[in-house]
Amino acid sequence: MQTIDQAGTFNLGGHSVKRLGYGAMQLAGPGVFGPPRDKDAALGVLREAVKAGVDHIDTSDFYGPHVTNQIIREALEPYGDDLVIVTKIGARRGTDASWLPAFSSDELARAVDDNLRNLGREALDVVNLRIMFDAHGPAEGSIAEPLNTLAALQKQGLVRHIGLSNVTASQVEEGRGIAEIVCVQNQYNLAHRADDALVDALARDGIAYVPFFPLGGFSPLQSATLSEVAGRLQATPMQVALAWLLRRAPNILLIPGTSSVAHLRENLAAASLVLPDDAMAALNGIAGGQPAA
Ligand SMILES: NC(=O)c1ccc[n+]([C@@H]2O[C@H](COP(=O)([O-])OP(=O)(O)OC[C@H]3O[C@@H](n4cnc5c(N)ncnc54)[C@H](OP(=O)(O)O)[C@@H]3O)[C@@H](O)[C@H]2O)c1
Repeated sequence: MQTIDQAGTFNLGGHSVKRLGYGAMQLAGPGVFGPPRDKDAALGVLREAVKAGVDHIDTSDFYGPHVTNQIIREALEPYGDDLVIVTKIGARRGTDASWLPAFSSDELARAVDDNLRNLGREALDVVNLRIMFDAHGPAEGSIAEPLNTLAALQKQGLVRHIGLSNVTASQVEEGRGIAEIVCVQNQYNLAHRADDALVDALARDGIAYVPFFPLGGFSPLQSATLSEVAGRLQATPMQVALAWLLRRAPNILLIPGTSSVAHLRENLAAASLVLPDDAMAALNGIAGGQPAA
């Protein structure tokens, strides 16, 4: 048994995946644009992740763009049968590294094609439709048109399962009326808990919730309470932040991102960290009086 097995598994598009996975966004160059500073190190992180038992990798062809998927392919091909690669479409990068919406039928079809080619897959395991009405957070508006396009690509056999990203609860409801939604990927962590009710609702329906920025993303989580709990448990603050998410709800799957093997090992070791009730209570206070999870 490997350490990450201790965090258990959850169903993602018909596959039982380990609850600790890996997010590949940090493998591209600075600002998620262009090649990494050290490509061998990036290849090494991916190989180490799979060696440690990771069977769920999150990516997108707009990381780089193209670069991250090409590195995944170079590092991991031939892919193991149990590896689930989740990608996302709906955005493109400007020449100035900006993040722009790319929702037209042509752009979505091209994005699926780009992912297939760069990952070297015949079909994509899971594709998240990344809503870009507001690039920085969920914003209301119908998602029917792009989701119908993605559902048509699924019917062609290019996409096995569909997820949603950067969405509101009502968009999840609308989406579930159009296609089977196997996961939702929104920003969520110890300090950012706008999705508390959505996490619980999806848990009741057996749908995976995959928080992005589990460690705070571009501004890593910092809190005196987090450091105090970590010190008490002889763990690191990042491990405690991940263990909190694991205990928060059974449908939460983790995809912490890192470009470093040392951080990867540290993050995966969070699988064996069990938070006692008093630590959970203290950590629940970080977001400002949230109810105990
Ligand atoms: N759907 C979406 O819109 C969306 C948006 C953003 C991200 N994502 C996905 O979510 C994944 C996770 O998000 P993320 O990578 O942006 O943010 P994150 O996992 O919250 O944090 C990553 C940051 O934390 C640092 N870090 C990682 N482990 C650490 C450790 N043990 N100690 C100290 N620092 C550590 C990383 O730097 P080092 O490289 O130095 O370790 C990096 O700067 C991404 O990789 C991507 O696949 C999706």
